[in-house]
Amino acid sequence: RSILVLNGPNLNLLGTRQPDIYGETTLAMIEETCARHGAALGLAVTFRQSNHEGVLIDAIHDARDTHDGIVLNAGAYTHSSIALRDAISSVDVPVVELHLSNIHAREDFRHLSHIAPVALGQICGFGAHGYALALEALKAHLEGVDR
Ligand code: DQA
Repeated sequence: RSILVLNGPNLNLLGTRQPDIYGETTLAMIEETCARHGAALGLAVTFRQSNHEGVLIDAIHDARDTHDGIVLNAGAYTHSSIALRDAISSVDVPVVELHLSNIHAREDFRHLSHIAPVALGQICGFGAHGYALALEALKAHLEGVDR
């Protein structure tokens, strides 16, 4: 099985970006964890990041032919992008929505997720460990454990 771990705007700055909220783990460290944890689960992980909405949309379209599932941390596009939501609705690839921080415990504008209604589920508030949780959730889903 192959999984796309897709990261949106400003996540390239992890480690130095508001570490009190997002922690000190860098995106490169998260990529390494995803590769290692994915391999242990029997998942081949492709890891990507873009600050551009259209690039993220293209990546979701492309995953249709290449990946069995997507872990998506859409960053602030979570709260604003109907186009990203439509992209997910347009492909038949299960998506786990992920956030490092607990978006529900933060500002009101972060409580709304356009992704959540079209996602398999949402993982948030567990920091970088959430990526490992998301890979496990996708694996279980793909194996039919939650059906
Ligand atoms: C985030 C939460 C979003 O509200 C924020 O805009 C981000 C990161 C998270 O991982 O906690 O960029 O998706």
